Parts: sequence; C-alpha cells; structure tokens
Amino acid sequence: MHLPVLNLPRPVPVMADRAPQDTIPQTRGEREQIRKEIEAYVLRVQPVPPLASAELRTHAEALADAGGWARKYVDYIGVVMNSRVWRDALAAVPFERRLLLMPKCLRIEDRCPAPFDDFGLLCKQCGLCSIQDLQNEAERLGYACLVAEGSALVMALIQTGKIDAIVGVSCLSVLEKAFPYMESAAIPGVAIPLLQDDCKDTTLDLDWLWDVVHLTSDDKTYRVDLDALRHEVETWFTPASLDQLLGKAATETEQIGRDWLAKSGKRWRPFLAVCAYRALRDGDASIPDDLKRLAIAVECFHKASLVHDDIEDDDDLRYDEPSLHKLHGVAVALNVGDLLLGDGYRLIAECDVPNDVKNRMLQIAAAGHRTLCLGQGAELCWTRAPRPLGSLQVLDIFRQKTAPAFEVALQIGAAYAQADQDVADVLTRYSEAIGIAYQIRDDLDDLAEESGIGDLEALRPSLPMALAHEKSKDQDKALVAAAWRRQVADVDRDALRRIVASPEMQEKCRGLLESYKEEAIRSLAELDNASLKGLLRRVVSKIFHIEVKGWCSEFETRNAAGRPAGAEAVG
Ligand code: IPE
Ligand code: MG
Repeated sequence: MHLPVLNLPRPVPVMADRAPQDTIPQTRGEREQIRKEIEAYVLRVQPVPPLASAELRTHAEALADAGGWARKYVDYIGVVMNSRVWRDALAAVPFERRLLLMPKCLRIEDRCPAPFDDFGLLCKQCGLCSIQDLQNEAERLGYACLVAEGSALVMALIQTGKIDAIVGVSCLSVLEKAFPYMESAAIPGVAIPLLQDDCKDTTLDLDWLWDVVHLTSDDKTYRVDLDALRHEVETWFTPASLDQLLGKAATETEQIGRDWLAKSGKRWRPFLAVCAYRALRDGDASIPDDLKRLAIAVECFHKASLVHDDIEDDDDLRYDEPSLHKLHGVAVALNVGDLLLGDGYRLIAECDVPNDVKNRMLQIAAAGHRTLCLGQGAELCWTRAPRPLGSLQVLDIFRQKTAPAFEVALQIGAAYAQADQDVADVLTRYSEAIGIAYQIRDDLDDLAEESGIGDLEALRPSLPMALAHEKSKDQDKALVAAAWRRQVADVDRDALRRIVASPEMQEKCRGLLESYKEEAIRSLAELDNASLKGLLRRVVSKIFHIEVKGWCSEFETRNAAGRPAGAEAVG
C-alpha cells in the first residue's frame, strides 16, 4: 500500500500589508484551547445535529462567555462546534461516500499549472502545493475530491445521492454561506476553517484536516485526549508515585537515581509505550500497574543514556541545570546510569506476563540498548579522529543513537498488548523516522539558540554541519572542514555560524525534518489496526507540529477584473 508523500509548504512570503484576521484566534494555543473547551461542552450538553443557525449561535455564545472568549470569535467557535457535533456521524460514513472539498487558495497561484473545468481544479500533480497530497490520500481512501468553491456545486453533488458526508476546508465567510445548505440537507459536515479570510497566503491546521479525513468509527481511539494521557504519564514520575510503583529507594545510590528519574523530561518515550498498548487494546482506558512500570522502565533506559551521554560529551548542563556528573562526580554518575539500566531490566523481568511476552520485551530492550551504544560508539570513535561527515552518515548516526529509545518504548507497549510481528515491523519503520526527525529538530533548536550552538559549538556530528560542508564552496568549505576536523584554533566561530546557521542551511534541515515526519506517516499505511494507525498519526502531530500555508489572491484579482473565478485555464 502506498501513502503519498505529504508535500509541505514551500517558503512562505510574509505579506506585510495584510491585516491580521481578527475573527480567528491566530495562535495555535488559543485554537487548541477553544477546541478543548468545545469538546468538553459537547460532551456535557450533547447538542444533536443538525443544528439550525440560531441554535448553533446560542451554543457558541454560551461557550464564548463561559470561557471568556471575545465575541468576535463566536462565528469561528460556531463552525468548530458544528464540526465537532457532526464528528461521530462522519466517522460512521464509509470513506467512499464522503466528499473532500478544498479551496483553490491552497495552491500557489502564480505557478500552479492546473486548468479548471466545471468541477473545479484539474490538479497536475506538480508537487508545488499540498493539494495533490491531500487529494491523493483522500482518493486512496475512497473519497470524491473537489478543489473548488461554490455551494451550488456541492448541493448538486449532495442531490446525486452519492455523498453522505462532507469534509470541507474553507474560509469562515464561505463556510457561513454554505451552512444553510448543509443544515437543510442534514448532511454530516466537518469544516476546517482557513486561518485567514482574504484568499491570500492562506493557512490551515493540516493535522486537524488529516485527522478528520481519516476519521473512522473503526478507530476506537479518536476520543483519546493525548494531552490528558501525557499528563497522566507525568504523574507516575512524582517521587511518591515512583516509590509506590518501584518500592522505596533504600540507599543513597538508589535515591540519586530516583531523584534523577523524577527530576525532569518530556516523558515522550513512556507516553509512546502507553499509546501503543492503548491503541492495540482498542482504546481500553484501564492502565495496569505493570504497564506503568514498563513505561518507567523505558524512561529508566532513556535517562541512563542521557547520564552517560553527558559524561561522554562532558556536558555541564541538562535541563538547564548541572548534569548528574557535575553534581556528584563522574564515578557516581556513571554508576547511577548503570543502576537505572539495571532497574529498567528488573522492571521488565518482574512483569506478570506469559514468558514468551517477557522474553520478547527483554529482547526488545537489549536490542535497543545495543543499537544505541553502537550509534554513540560511532560518534565517539569519530571524535578521536574527526573529519567531515556526509549528511547520510550523520543521519545514520541519528538512526542508531536516537531512534532506539522510541522503538523500545513502542515495541514494549505493543508486546505487552501481545501484538504480532506485522505491527512490530511497522513500529520499527515509524520509530526510525520519528527518531531521526526528533534529532534533526534538536539540531535545528541548537541553531536557533543565540548563545551557543550546541553540537555545532562542541563540533560534534550535526546535520547542519554536514549540509554546510556538502553545499558550500571554496573558502567556506575549507572553514567548515577545519571545524569538522576540530582545528579549533583556526576556526572563526562567527564565520562558521554564518555558514552553518544560514537561512539556506536551516531550510534544508527543515526539509529533511519534514521528509522524516512524512516517512513516519507513510509507514503507518501498512497497519490494519485503525486504532493504532489513528493514534500514531496523531502522535506525530503531538511531537511535531505542522501547518500548511498556501497562496491565494486569485479571487481578489478576478473579482477586481469583474470575471468569475474558475472555469478557465490558469497558469
Ligand atoms: C534528549 O531527549 C536526547 C535527544 C534525543 C535530543 P529529550 O529531549 O526527549 O529528553 P527528555 O525526555 O526531555 O529528558
Ligand atoms: Mg552525545
């Protein structure tokens, strides 16, 4: 099965003359908060679709007032609420009876080679914008797709009797115009509003659209609130909870390890273990203590690797505070790292599961541990005789040193749920891609830091360094090569930073980051389990955040020229 590469945004020109759209919250945080409040509201009040405009407005105003949202957001809240109210009905409609409607302003107007016919855009699959990927994916699932505006066309399609539900992307004003038609037809419709209303430089929350397009009642996990689940995982790492789940720390050495485990961290890996289990158990919300212990085991492995990594790299700081060996000395830190590894294996070994499951989990942990050490080893051996590395070599080090922790987490969660080898194979591909993307993002974050340049400053293998060496010429190339070889005295740091952290290099890194995210999404195509597929898809969006931007001033131009939009060749 093939899932198309998701073409994500090309460089976006910032339109300085555009006034901010003030009827739509412009920060992702606010939009997510509104969606959360809508979720809670709908579960509590249980409005029944179809909602007439006045009814919807009453609900939207009630929510805006309760949440302290400005009244100017009521229309937006109404559209999002209406979509939420229809969600379960949409999920029950087979893909092949759904219509995906996208606006033309997602394409890159100046360069789009596609003509229009009476049914809208005839996409040429040129790869410039995201339309082709969304369309290909939706069509692969069985959707009918239209890239057009106009409620008349949609109504005509509804009247053919072949469409039972609509997923639509549009600006608020078009959605409002289409609303009465949809409402009168009582057809399930989920609308994703564009984040601007001016047909120019349009943006949408792609992840949200992707989720909706894939929404199916076969996926029993789409109600799982990933933020709440993450929060729950965090509660297992409080000192009291660790004492309860692992037993009290009896010695100073154990206490240092315990404190380090409780101290900080994003807890992605234990979260992933729980996600895999939960999806494979079809969203079963109960979390046995053994699963909590396994999640902690996964974090023990990860934290041990960080303690050892900080010693190996002589890093003074972790979580912006002294690293463990700076606090207690190298010998103690080394030993505490070993203890955490031992604890991880102990927790797996003590699980109350059939022996074959336990064996499998121990094999997973051991294999991940080995691969991680081989990745670290490749980097550390390189450090003894540093020389320029190619981007593929650097990516291969990432594959070995960063992906295993993700893989161990997911595979252990899946093994505990007694998943089969087909699932395990997908998880391997998925974790590789997630791990590499994660490390690339870490490199990009380093570049963004004003003060230091992380691995670049320490002259460790980093992707921007590899790309800078591959792409630059003459003096610049010589400078980057000298930095790779750690001929530190000869290296002009400011000049190096200008080359390695240049917008061009950052763009290339971001491109690679996107490709690995896409690869993670593609890997899921092989999964038969809709719950696991849906949940892992949403996890990519949680760890990495995606937005699509496109351009559309076509309507303005055409309207100004007094011509109708569409129905003729463009480009
Ligand atoms: C650190 O991982 C090592 C990298 C792969 C970048 P995290 O940044 O996920 O570490 P925690 O989980 O917050 O401790
Ligand atoms: Mg390191």
